Amino acid sequence: MYHIKKEFEALIADAKTEEDIKQIKAKFLGKKGKVSELFKQMGGLGDEQKKEFGKNINKLKQYIEDSLTNKQTQIKEIRKKESLEKESIDVTLPARRGFLGSIHPITKTIIEIEDIFKSMGFDVETGYEIEFDRYNFEMLNIPKEHPARDMQDTFYINDNVLLRTHTSPTQIRVMESKKPPVMFISPGKVYRRDSDITHSPMFHQVEGLLIDKDIHFSDLKGVLSDFLKIFFGDVPVRFRPSYFPFTEPSAEVDIGCIICGGKGCRVCSNTGYLEVLGCGMVHPNVLKNVNYPDEYNGFAFGLGVERFAMLKYGIDNIKLFFENDIRFLKQFS
Ligand code: PHE
Repeated sequence: MYHIKKEFEALIADAKTEEDIKQIKAKFLGKKGKVSELFKQMGGLGDEQKKEFGKNINKLKQYIEDSLTNKQTQIKEIRKKESLEKESIDVTLPARRGFLGSIHPITKTIIEIEDIFKSMGFDVETGYEIEFDRYNFEMLNIPKEHPARDMQDTFYINDNVLLRTHTSPTQIRVMESKKPPVMFISPGKVYRRDSDITHSPMFHQVEGLLIDKDIHFSDLKGVLSDFLKIFFGDVPVRFRPSYFPFTEPSAEVDIGCIICGGKGCRVCSNTGYLEVLGCGMVHPNVLKNVNYPDEYNGFAFGLGVERFAMLKYGIDNIKLFFENDIRFLKQFS
């Protein structure tokens, strides 16, 4: 018994890890351990001796158990101290510099457009990306058989609900909730089943609407010409007759090609002009649909933000806006 005790003491003194403790425990207290073996030797002894021997084994067992527990606590404490020392923080070190991102070119372009219109007195409104067919088409005087309502062009969610194909439903939303006069722009995402180097299934538009008494086409021309000249610099602006179901008369607006200066190039298809806007005087049916009084009229316009950004910053692939390559985005900080 004495030898067992000495052997145990030598081992425990050397133990450094919890794994060592586990092994020592198995060696002495396990089923086939040294202490268990001692109990087996009791068989051949007389009653008195048995009592004495048993007492001593139990004492030894208790001693081993206590020593193991103590050692284990010691090991844990040493480990804790070590890790505290290793992980300690030097609070006198200078702070790491945070990484500052930059504004996305689309956001930047929207902010530039907003600033120009705000300076003219326009408010900024928001609409809904998920819209009713009624607001995206019906209330805007777009009849059931209009080609824009084709499944080929529009993402339908069900028969009545869709992803808006333009920001024009916001015209209806605002006019339904506000009495005239109204004067606002509304930037936001729109969705169309279209994808190539200049088209993306999700892109951004800015809608504009001005309703008041005595508004004329000349007001539309003045506001949009000024806006385009501020945004693109001093470029020629021309209005061409066009068609939209929700405006009458309607026009498309071109600016002199800013790539070639009007000489003709690939970007302007050798015309010297770039189409940048759709607009017109709000159709009487639209004003009737929102119950605006007869003496009110006005104009509306819509523009594509990606197109504005591509032209202003000379970007030739729309995918660059959505890939989020940090080397591209960084250039707009
Ligand atoms: N909603 C039209 C489009 O997406 C643009 C537009 C808006 C035209 C307002 C006229 C008036 O093409």
